[in-house]
Amino acid sequence: MRIRNKAIVYIWLPSHGFVSTGVLLVEEEGGQPLSMRFQYDKEYFEHPEAISLDPVDLPLSHMENIIDSPPEKRTFGVMFDCCPDNWGQKILSLTASEKRVEVRYFDFIVSGGFHRIGAMGFGPDRKHGPRWDFYPLQEDNDSQAVDIDLLARAFNQLENHGFHNVDHNIRKYLNSGSSVGGARPKALIEHKNKPHIAKFKSPDDIWDEPTVEYASMTLAAKAGLNVPSVSLLKTQKANIFLIERFDRENEDRKHVLSGMTMVGAKPGIMFINERHSYQDLCLTIDRFGHKDFIKEDKEELYKRLICNILLNNEDDHLRNFGFIWDKDGSRLSPFYDFTPSPSPARHLMLNLGKNKTEMSLSNALSQCEYFGLDREKALGIAESIVEVFNRWEGHFADCQVTARDLSALRMVFDRNIRIDLEYDQDAKKIMQTG
Ligand SMILES: Nc1ncnc2c1ncn2[C@@H]1O[C@H](COP(=O)(O)OP(=O)(O)O)[C@@H](O)[C@H]1O
Ligand SMILES: [Mg+2]
Repeated sequence: MRIRNKAIVYIWLPSHGFVSTGVLLVEEEGGQPLSMRFQYDKEYFEHPEAISLDPVDLPLSHMENIIDSPPEKRTFGVMFDCCPDNWGQKILSLTASEKRVEVRYFDFIVSGGFHRIGAMGFGPDRKHGPRWDFYPLQEDNDSQAVDIDLLARAFNQLENHGFHNVDHNIRKYLNSGSSVGGARPKALIEHKNKPHIAKFKSPDDIWDEPTVEYASMTLAAKAGLNVPSVSLLKTQKANIFLIERFDRENEDRKHVLSGMTMVGAKPGIMFINERHSYQDLCLTIDRFGHKDFIKEDKEELYKRLICNILLNNEDDHLRNFGFIWDKDGSRLSPFYDFTPSPSPARHLMLNLGKNKTEMSLSNALSQCEYFGLDREKALGIAESIVEVFNRWEGHFADCQVTARDLSALRMVFDRNIRIDLEYDQDAKKIMQTG
């Protein structure tokens, strides 16, 4: 049965707070969107700080028109970004089944709660601002201060006994991360008075993923990348990886859009079926980037590419790139979800150069001009990151990655195979150093 729902869409504008932007209509059937429609409010258009909710699908220049979602997308990029992925959808569906209510696609969009990532909010009317309990399954606790041991216990009970057997007093911890994207178990919490995302181990992990993600992100920070403050919490039950949120600054909320939205890609599993490329991300920075930081952001993107190649991160899909979007244009968000993949396939998720997705410095170098870099500069950047990453093992050991996990990781990082992949003689030389 087709159903239609309507919401007023809010956005947080710096030093103004939440303002209503317009009306969203969502038509769906069987839990899948059929189409969406949006119209900006005239008052919003006239607001001095107004920004497009989504520069590709909902440009503010279309303010007078009703905007329909592109037929091949059936949604707007920004609305897809508002929905949780596998993890959050699973938790919301389990909560719904327990309460014997149906989950609509619309619920995934509006159910994010007060702490949702980014600057968006949804409500039933223009008078009262966003309603965080708009969706009845979202148990929204205003304070995110948590007892870390209880938090770990909740995720441990989930893993060992299933969702329905998690003690009711700690269930809220599972719900707290249900609005965030991604597949891994996570929670939104406050740590040392700052908002963080907490990420947990998952039953299919080959190694202790929270510790390995912590080691990887701190290695990237050592190599000079833009990494948020991260920490590793050790509890009796498990290690928990914490990353400080870059979409909050005191009270202010920043509007975050995924790489998928910014390149205008078709949402969903397209990043597997219909390949996009690093060049698409470069062009996006050229098109929408804050003009004073285009060079810097493209250089940072190139550094991430080199890190992904060196650490065998095959999960570099478009939603693992974020953009902070404001009146001055976009900025590439700080680095996140950087961790090695256990597969030995050595393919990036995104296309790159003439050797497609091949994970080699040679492939990256062949495309350096897209990133605004001449060959000499690109070689220098690669060299300085290789120098740090060649010492990965000592760094991972310092981060308390276990001997067992180190030996599994050694196979992934197999140096000889990686050198064999290089066809550019300068790239090969760099890989052979250290
Ligand atoms: N430090 C951060 N601040 C704000 N948002 C973040 C941060 N890290 C990740 N995110 C958002 O949360 C989503 C899920 O995080 P991610 O680390 O990619 O989890 P997963 O490993 O499950 O894919 C990201 O796609 C991004 O939108
Ligand atoms: Mg991710």
